[in-house]
Amino acid sequence: IPVDPFDLVIFGGTGDLAQRKILPALFRRHCAGQLTGAERIIGAARTDLSNAEYRTIVAEAVRVNAGAKACSGGALAAFLERISYVALDALGEAGWQELSRQLRPAGEAPVRMFYFSVGPGLFGPLAEKLHSHGLANADTRIVVEKPFGRDLVSARELNRTLASHFDEGQIYRIDHYLGKETVQNLMAVRFGNMLFEPLWNSQYVDHIQITVAETVGVEGREEYYERAGAMRDMMQNHLMQLLCLIAMEPPAKFDPDAVRDEKLKVIRALDPVEPHHIVRGQYQARLDPSDPHPSYRGLVCNPRSSTESYVALKAHISNWRWAGTPFYLRTGKRLVNRSSVINVMFKDAPHSIFGAEAGRHANHLKIRLQPNEGITLSVTIKEPGQGGMRLVDVPLDMSFAEALGPEGGDPPDAYERLIMDVVRGNQTLFMRGDEVEAAWAWTDPLIAGWKSRGDVPKPYESGSTGPGDADLLMRRDGREWRGINP
Ligand code: BG6
Repeated sequence: IPVDPFDLVIFGGTGDLAQRKILPALFRRHCAGQLTGAERIIGAARTDLSNAEYRTIVAEAVRVNAGAKACSGGALAAFLERISYVALDALGEAGWQELSRQLRPAGEAPVRMFYFSVGPGLFGPLAEKLHSHGLANADTRIVVEKPFGRDLVSARELNRTLASHFDEGQIYRIDHYLGKETVQNLMAVRFGNMLFEPLWNSQYVDHIQITVAETVGVEGREEYYERAGAMRDMMQNHLMQLLCLIAMEPPAKFDPDAVRDEKLKVIRALDPVEPHHIVRGQYQARLDPSDPHPSYRGLVCNPRSSTESYVALKAHISNWRWAGTPFYLRTGKRLVNRSSVINVMFKDAPHSIFGAEAGRHANHLKIRLQPNEGITLSVTIKEPGQGGMRLVDVPLDMSFAEALGPEGGDPPDAYERLIMDVVRGNQTLFMRGDEVEAAWAWTDPLIAGWKSRGDVPKPYESGSTGPGDADLLMRRDGREWRGINP
């Protein structure tokens, strides 16, 4: 269904994110027929460029990044017709009048959006300029990217700055994990089925594991990453969001505040993590001559760097549903596999009628977020044969691609969905200010703790499953990680 026509200004329009994600996402929505043809997409940045020069940049960005889904032929030409460029100084006066000229008067373009694809230091100045030049009104929407601050203090400051210019209902804070099809499927699986929800609590669930493993390193983003580390880059946002969706109470409806209220309650119910329940790691060089990788320290040119490229921890949620059920979360770079998966490990049956020799068996629900999206539920059955009652666990396996077939279509990627949600004015998949602050309030003491202890991350080999201490974290509890090996 086509969305309403819009005017979208991308501040940072020549930047990496605009080229890799935002513009290709818009192009794919154009190819999917979701844009009406009446939109204006205006890139804004400091560099002096003509419209034609900017369109060349956009065409290249789309060619390289729009992927297999890209359409061809006249589509690109038609898309480029909607693109223009304004050279603009976020801190000065240059360019603002021209930007104002390119935007249609309110009423002609029902939706006006400003994408702040710039460092957080410019959020305030940009918001100010939008108002002083009369470019923002009560219907204007702004989109802001992560990292939303680097701690609670800076996140509060950012929230205050934005709140002095915009209502919360106008601010769309992106966490692109929420735009992933399979992440939204977590809600569908939990709240669309009768099957799981009655068992979804500490009485039946032994523990839950959330893994986001990446094979990529931090090439090209060394400066940012060295200051952030896995805790700020992934745990505070993406893994926290997954934890919220897995652990939250059913919202009364699928609407922005109902969902975000429930997520917030989960974050606020998180206990502080014990220092010995966190493992930080940093990847080492890989010596394999056919596939060499520098060490993290070599890459960031800091032989003493203590930034973690891996973190694993055990969290507890202190509420009625989850008291006593540990949540193990881990994420890391340069691991053996790209694999985002959630494992819900159910308890053993309370009593085995088959005796000790049948062994211990427990159900296990595995939700694969990427790649090979799908769900596997392990079920215990009788092992075929004559030799008494032996039990074996077999998978009920469903790959979403196979189950939905070609009619399931090629789902839009996270940015496509999220940008279209901004146009539709739907904030359900965006973080609210209090949510981000609560996440930092939980993360800050962990980071402060290892700073004050002078904690040094444990080395792990590039291409491995992470530091051995992360396995120990599990083994001490008589458990083991699932789902990262090929
Ligand atoms: C980003 C992080 O937010 O998410 C990156 O900054 C990370 O470090 C990326 O690689 C992972 O996203 P995806 O969609 O590839 O799982």
